Amino acid sequence: MGKPPTKVGFREYAIYQIYPKSFRDTTGSGIGDLRGVIEKIPYIASLGIDMIWFNPFFVSPQRDGGYDVADYYNIDPAIGTMDDFDELVRALADNGIGVMLDMVLNHTSTEHEWFQKALAGDKKYQDFYIIRPPALGSGRPYPRRPARRAADGGLPTNWESKFGGPAWAPFGDTGNYYLHLYDPTQADLNWRNPEVRDEMVKIVNFWRAKGIHGFRFDVINVIGKAAELKSSAPGEDPRYMYTDGPDVNAYLQQLNAESFGQDPDSVTVGEMSSTSIQNCVEYSNPDNHELDMVFSFHHLKVDYLNGQKWSNVRFNPIDLKRTLNEWALGMQEGNGWNALFLNNHDQPRSVNRFGDPTTYRVESATMLATMIHMLRGTPYIYMGEEIGMTDPEYHSIDDYVDVEARNAYNALIDQGVDAAEAFAIVHSKARDNSRTPMQWDDSPNAGFTTGTPWLRPTNQEHINVAAEEQGGKILAYYKKLIRLRKQHLAISIGEYQPYQLDHPQVYAFTRTHEDEKLLVIINLSDKEIACDIPEDFATGEVLIANYPNPTVADTIQLHPYEALTLKKEVVA
Ligand code: NOJ
Repeated sequence: MGKPPTKVGFREYAIYQIYPKSFRDTTGSGIGDLRGVIEKIPYIASLGIDMIWFNPFFVSPQRDGGYDVADYYNIDPAIGTMDDFDELVRALADNGIGVMLDMVLNHTSTEHEWFQKALAGDKKYQDFYIIRPPALGSGRPYPRRPARRAADGGLPTNWESKFGGPAWAPFGDTGNYYLHLYDPTQADLNWRNPEVRDEMVKIVNFWRAKGIHGFRFDVINVIGKAAELKSSAPGEDPRYMYTDGPDVNAYLQQLNAESFGQDPDSVTVGEMSSTSIQNCVEYSNPDNHELDMVFSFHHLKVDYLNGQKWSNVRFNPIDLKRTLNEWALGMQEGNGWNALFLNNHDQPRSVNRFGDPTTYRVESATMLATMIHMLRGTPYIYMGEEIGMTDPEYHSIDDYVDVEARNAYNALIDQGVDAAEAFAIVHSKARDNSRTPMQWDDSPNAGFTTGTPWLRPTNQEHINVAAEEQGGKILAYYKKLIRLRKQHLAISIGEYQPYQLDHPQVYAFTRTHEDEKLLVIINLSDKEIACDIPEDFATGEVLIANYPNPTVADTIQLHPYEALTLKKEVVA
């Protein structure tokens, strides 16, 4: 064995994601709270994870599950108090677990005092947002040339909001419009204004002063909008007009230098919307002093029909493995770093999407976990994933709460899609699929609340933590994956190489660090499939497998959704 590097840091982390609203409610309000997380620390610690990413719990009108922040410096009273927060951070630290906060810095809630002051006519705060006159005056920033209704040529650009409908809304009764790439209550901030950037630094430093070292930056690659905003040409995708703009890198470098970059042990991840490998290399290559790692989403668009999220088609394994492979190789080549995940609060559950929630739930959940934890990058586990939680079995659009799902359903109906088909589409892609309460036990509200849960669980009778802890296979498998990551540098920092890339159902790759070499073999299908094993692995050790006693020779006959990791025999 060669000498391991002294600092592997976030590369050997496993990060657990908690959607606080759905984790554990201690008050009977039906909404999860910070004290609920404190209560569950023994469970969280038993997983062996290093850090928790919490979805935002700052003061918010909750139009978009807390991604509409009205006050960055306070905890939403529905979720807890600052004392609860401080206690939580201390208690987690006592268990060796760090905290990663979700910084929503691209936009604020329209209830934020900056937006309210802007609406009231305060020029300083008007320049905090992106306010433009109607199309005829396109490009001229408000308020130098206040537009008159009569001259209104329509919205400043033809951009669509990511939640449907136009990306512009009237700015009070001024005749101008403000940009909102998301819900109309989420107004985009003007990062071109140095005062806005100073405020962003101040927010991060406030939480750093409270001992926080982890930060996730929400949709951070859309902060760099040009001064002059233009409509896209017919047939052109407007997203590229505001994504990965030329100033994003400089803004991140400033944030890094003036805040988290001053902590040697900071851990940062940026959520990158509709991005490219090249851009993600730049954001996460340590030489650029921007972020440690990035979330990208190309691999979660393999079940979009013609690039449309609101479609209901099954993925093709070859597309998934090719995309993951391309990103693994590209990021490695550019010395970037991936945040690895299939599940989060915006995605349907991976077992439904890429596995089989009925016949092969255990096998497919553990197979998908193997893939994520063995790729090159830092794995994220979204609460409930470790017990194989699935999408809820809802039967009516009224069961869904999320603004995006409801807008999408209405838009589909408006387009003439019949109600059953529209429901099936929403059912397959809604973000609420992953936002249902954590299933602690088999009681009517899954041990989440004594009140009425804000979103209904549906299958806690057979999928819950208590059952998993009494001999279930998925939880134990996750714990083993997390343990192995700390024991094998080949997993945390090893070089990635694909193996048999053209195999239509099997995704295989090697991870190599010095003289340790691992071969990961994953059957992405429900079929029995043969896969060749290179000679030097045929007599190797099985590090982890999701079927008992796999027989490895020069060929292996894989069961449905089988996954195994072999360690090459080292010849002395
Ligand atoms: C990405 C977050 O993950 C999502 O939940 C949110 O709706 C958008 N950013 C807007 O903040």
